[in-house]
Amino acid sequence: FTTKALTGKRVVITAGPTQENIDPVRYITNHSSGKMGFALAEAAVEEGAEVILISGPVSLATPDRVERINVVSAQDMLVACESVMPSDIFIAVAAVADFRPQVVAKQKLKKQPDNEQGLLLELVRNPDILATIAAREDRPFCVGFAAETENLLEYAEKKLKAKNLNLIVANDVSNPAIGFNSDDNMITLVDRELNTTRLALTSKAKIARRLMELITSYYLKETHH
Ligand code: PMT
Repeated sequence: FTTKALTGKRVVITAGPTQENIDPVRYITNHSSGKMGFALAEAAVEEGAEVILISGPVSLATPDRVERINVVSAQDMLVACESVMPSDIFIAVAAVADFRPQVVAKQKLKKQPDNEQGLLLELVRNPDILATIAAREDRPFCVGFAAETENLLEYAEKKLKAKNLNLIVANDVSNPAIGFNSDDNMITLVDRELNTTRLALTSKAKIARRLMELITSYYLKETHH
């Protein structure tokens, strides 16, 4: 009998896209499938953790022994995350929409004589879920993902500092074989001292297992277990 490293610890993971309504039938979203976040949830269960997975709209089955909370918008996702705090580890894998329509039309938007030339959609900033959780007094150990199409490590390091994270996972999404909606991934984990660990191209399930081991060892080091 061996006690797993995260036994008794709560891990909260966000996954999938968010949907930001324009009107009753239309919304803004992105290509996140939830695969990476769901694979990490499974890997966290394997480490013995109590796992809460807060997911945007995706078509994946909930992994065994994972508590799942479904949300639609970024605002919903923030409320759900705050409702399950405090936690020991927070991992933000979700591709949260940075902007949402300023007003959600009550009725379906119609083609009309006054919009023959086009329609201007005004967007406002969404809350940053990860930065909000990382700024709490009872802040968990915080891990972000950085989906970038250029200057991967530079932008990832900037996000690590700006959002006050413990770790960030740099994910090059310019390559369609990895990143959004692919079955495989290839990542670089960056810590606060800017040490990097590269995980070579393999399935998201395997990346998730290795990444969860790395996150666990950083977490245990930082909390002096
Ligand atoms: O779901 P898959 O199809 O498997 O694809 C996986 C993935 C490519 C979506 C995933 O690996 C990934 O990179 N997720 C982060 C996507 C993203 O939106 O990154 P970002 O660089 O825009 O955001 C940086 C970090 O802040 C992320 O941890 C994000 O969850 C978080 N964030 C961003 C904006 C916001 N309003 N709130 C947030 O919490």
